[in-house]
Amino acid sequence: MNIQTLLNQRIQAAMVAAGAPEESPALVRQSAKVQFGDYQANGIMGVAKKLKTNPRAFAEQVLEKLDLTDLADKVEIAGPGFINIFLNNAWLGKEQNNLRTSERLDIATVSQPETVVVDYSAPNLAKEMHVGHLRSTVIGDAVVRSLEFLGHNVVRQNHVGDWGTQFGMLLAYMERLRSENSEISMALSDLETFYREAKKCFDDDEAFSVRARELVVQLQSGAPECIALWNDFINISLEHCEETYQMLGVSLERKDVMPESAYNDDLQNVINDLDAKGLIKEDQGAKCVFLEEFANKDGEITPIIVQKTGGGFLYATTDLAAVRHRHKVIKADRALYFVDARQSLHFDQIFTLSRKAGFADDSISLEHMPFGTVMGSDGKPFKTRSGGVAKLSALLEEAQERAYKLVASKNPEMSEEELRNIGRVVGVASVKYADLSKNRTSDYVFNWDTMLSFEGNTAPYLQYAYSRVASIVRNAEIDVAELQGEISIVESQERALAVKLVQFEEAVQQVTNEGMPHFLCAYLYELAGTFMSFYEACPILKAEEEVKNSRLQLALNTASTLKLGLSLLGIETLERM
Ligand code: ARG
Repeated sequence: MNIQTLLNQRIQAAMVAAGAPEESPALVRQSAKVQFGDYQANGIMGVAKKLKTNPRAFAEQVLEKLDLTDLADKVEIAGPGFINIFLNNAWLGKEQNNLRTSERLDIATVSQPETVVVDYSAPNLAKEMHVGHLRSTVIGDAVVRSLEFLGHNVVRQNHVGDWGTQFGMLLAYMERLRSENSEISMALSDLETFYREAKKCFDDDEAFSVRARELVVQLQSGAPECIALWNDFINISLEHCEETYQMLGVSLERKDVMPESAYNDDLQNVINDLDAKGLIKEDQGAKCVFLEEFANKDGEITPIIVQKTGGGFLYATTDLAAVRHRHKVIKADRALYFVDARQSLHFDQIFTLSRKAGFADDSISLEHMPFGTVMGSDGKPFKTRSGGVAKLSALLEEAQERAYKLVASKNPEMSEEELRNIGRVVGVASVKYADLSKNRTSDYVFNWDTMLSFEGNTAPYLQYAYSRVASIVRNAEIDVAELQGEISIVESQERALAVKLVQFEEAVQQVTNEGMPHFLCAYLYELAGTFMSFYEACPILKAEEEVKNSRLQLALNTASTLKLGLSLLGIETLERM
C-alpha cells in the first residue's frame, strides 16, 4: 500500500472539489515531526495563491470536501495552510494484516509498466575491473532490481569498452606470446599485468608499435585472423568481469553485454545524418558539432568531436548511435546512465544533440545518473597500499577475509564452513552497502572499519538485525503459516513500527524514480531502529496469547521487509550470524 499516493489522490480530489484547478498537486509528504501527524499536505498554499484567496480559509473548504475517516482519526490545519494527517490505529492494524498475508508485502506492480534501459557497469575490457567500477555496478544493479520488482520492463545494457586503439597493442602482445609459444591464457589471467607488459613493449620497441598500429587497421577493416584474436581477448576479459559480478551478486549476464563495437556499422550513418541536418562543421580536419547551448561566457563552445582527422570515430559517436538504438529499436520510455559525474558534460551534449538530430524524441527520458568518486583516507581517489589501482576482485577477497575474522572472533562455537559463508556474505555486503548507502552524487571515503562495523547504517548492522528478528520468530516455536489473528496497534512503539512498515513502498519508489538507493538504505536502517525500540518496550514471547500473536506478526512483517528491502539492494541475508 502506498499511503502517499492514496493521500495525494484523495486530497487532490478534495482540492478540486473546493475549486482548485484540475491536477493541482496536493504535495503530500511524510511529516518531519510527530506533532505534525504522520503525513502532511503542502499543496494548499500554492493553489490559494493562484486563486488569490486566503490559504487557511481555502484549507477549511478542502477539509469540508475531504473524507479520510476510514484511515485517519485526526486531520487538522496547521500554520499558513498545511494539512496534517494522523493515521488511525485500526487502519494501521488492517494494513499490517494485508502486508502479512501478501507475497509482495502489499506492494502492487505499477499499472503502466515502462521499458527502462539501464546502462551500468560498462568497464573497459582492455583492463580488469577496479574500484572505479564499483559504484556504477552496484548502484545500477540495485535500481534494476527495484524497477523489476515494481513491474517495469528492464533492459540491461552493459556498454563495455571493447574497441579503440589500445586493442592493437594488446593484440600485438598476444601475437608475440603466441610466437614464443607462451601460455596466453596464463598471461591473460591477470589483465593488469598483461596490459602493463604490452604497454612496455609498445613504448620501448619500435617494431612492436608498428605491428600494433597495423593490427588496429586490420581490426577496423575486419580482417578475420585479427578479429579472431580480438574475440579471444574480449572473451577472456568478459569472463573476468563475470567472475566479479558473481562475487558481487550482481545480476549482469553475457546477454546484457552491448559493447561499443556493436555500433560500429552504424557510426558512418550517424555522421551522414548529422551532416544532412547541417549540424557538422569541419575543424582542423575533424568533424565536430558546435551547440550554442554549450557556449561559455565568452561565447566559446566546447565542440562534440564525432569523427577524427583520418576517419576514426569516437566515444561520443558510439553514444549517439546507442541513444538512437535505445529509442528506435528498444523503444525505451527511459534510459538511465549510471556513469561517473566526470562525464556529465559528455552526456549533456549527447542528449541535447540526440534530440536535435532526431535520434531521440519526447517519448524517451534520457537520464544521466552521475556518481562521485571512492576516496582513500588521504583524500585522493582510492588506491591500494602500494599505490596501484585497487582491483575489484582483490578488494572483495579482502572484504570476505576481514569479515570472516570478525565473525569468527564473535562466534567461536561455529563451524569453519559456516563462518566462511558468513564471512563471504557479510564481507561482500559491507563493500556494496557502504557504497549504496551514500548519496550517489557525493564522493565518499573507503574505510574498512566503518563498513564492517556492527553499529550504524552498515550491512553488518542490518544483516544482524534481520537475523535477530528472524530468531525471535523462530524462538516462538510457532508455525508461521498458522500465525494468524488480528494485528492490533495499541502502544506507541507498535504504532511507530506499523507506520514505518507501510512506508516501504515509498522508499522503493524513490530508488526507481531518482536512481538513488541510499533512500532505501536509510529507510531500512530506520526500520531496524524502530523495531529495536518496539522490542524493548513491548515484550513479545512473554505477552498473553492475543498480544503475543499480534506482536509476532509485526516482527514477521519487519523480518520480511528487511529481507526484501536488502534483496532489492542486492544484499543477501542470513538466518543466523
Ligand atoms: N566504458 C566507459 C568508461 O569506462 C563507460 C561507459 C558508460 N556508458 C556509456 N553509454 N557511455 O568510462
